[in-house]
Amino acid sequence: MTPQIRPVRKDDLSQSFTLIRNGFPAVAVTEEHMRWRFDHPRPDVDDTRLVAVDGDRVVGHMISRVHTDEDGTRKGNSFYGALAEEHRDTDLAARLLEASEANLTEKGAAFLRTSAAQEGVQAAGEHFREAILARGYELVESHHVLGMELSRLPDPPQAPAGAELRRWSEFADDPRPLYEIDKAADADEPGETAEDFLSYEFWLDSVWHNPMFDLELSLALLLDGAPVAISCYSSDHDSRMESAMTGTLREYRNRGLAGYTKHMALHRARERGFTHAYTGNHETNKPMLAINNRIGYSLVGTENTYVKRL
Ligand SMILES: CC(C)(COP(=O)(O)OP(=O)(O)OC[C@H]1O[C@@H](n2cnc3c(N)ncnc32)[C@H](O)[C@@H]1OP(=O)(O)O)[C@@H](O)C(=O)NCCC(=O)NCCS
Repeated sequence: MTPQIRPVRKDDLSQSFTLIRNGFPAVAVTEEHMRWRFDHPRPDVDDTRLVAVDGDRVVGHMISRVHTDEDGTRKGNSFYGALAEEHRDTDLAARLLEASEANLTEKGAAFLRTSAAQEGVQAAGEHFREAILARGYELVESHHVLGMELSRLPDPPQAPAGAELRRWSEFADDPRPLYEIDKAADADEPGETAEDFLSYEFWLDSVWHNPMFDLELSLALLLDGAPVAISCYSSDHDSRMESAMTGTLREYRNRGLAGYTKHMALHRARERGFTHAYTGNHETNKPMLAINNRIGYSLVGTENTYVKRL
């Protein structure tokens, strides 16, 4: 039977989670997070989670997101493409992408973006890549997705003079200084961004209160009592963790602060039983790639971003 494509329902979430978990080995997704997100849609974007259903089985998945820029321009993004193994050699990737595009253009998006990655990062990535190219998208940039087994973590470097580490959970009374570093780092990260950085209110909702965000693993580095660098993570609260951001305020860079903070976050994660860490870097982000290289990450695969203007 030809799978039917439609918006996800709450009772599809368990199967959708399994599909994503198998389809994106380097992503620390949890079913709890998917249920939370279903009940708390992001307020700053218009998301439709599409599933392809074959009888009562969820066999395909893609998110369609519309983001409205400050000047009112509507931009669409089709991502998180996953397929059940037996549907990878069918036209399902192309049909999911087509359905997502229809959803986005109906909502007024005239600028479309999407992505596909190598197999180690996205199991059905090659099928989505073919569909993306066939629909006239152009490649604009690539990111490296890196991974490591924490059992191979080298000894931590010496603490930089005056450095003090704090868990993010210790900022529960006022997380704003962490938001400011996250925002400043995001502005300096190379590469195109799909969306403007979140307002503080949306950041509290999407990051701080997100059940997948790990406030115990995430660290801030303080100098003279003030946070100047962060290394933060989402995790499955069990074995896998994924970098959300590592950043140092501009005036404190190249003193080993980010490298030390990230190194220590991974050591503490290993002590808590985590076994695998993943991260993604724009291919031109030399300082971050240098840090990750020193820590011992290796390439899992490349993720390409494609765009199309209508
Ligand atoms: C990337 C970033 C976090 C690094 O912070 P930092 O505190 O300066 O980092 P460190 O001093 O610990 O380490 C920087 C490393 O980059 C290396 N480096 C710096 N500039 C470099 C360049 N142009 N080419 C190659 N390596 C470079 C340094 O030699 C050092 O590596 P080493 O420890 O092997 O010597 C910081 O530049 C930043 O906040 N950037 C914007 C946010 C960002 O891109 N974050 C990563 C998102 S994936």
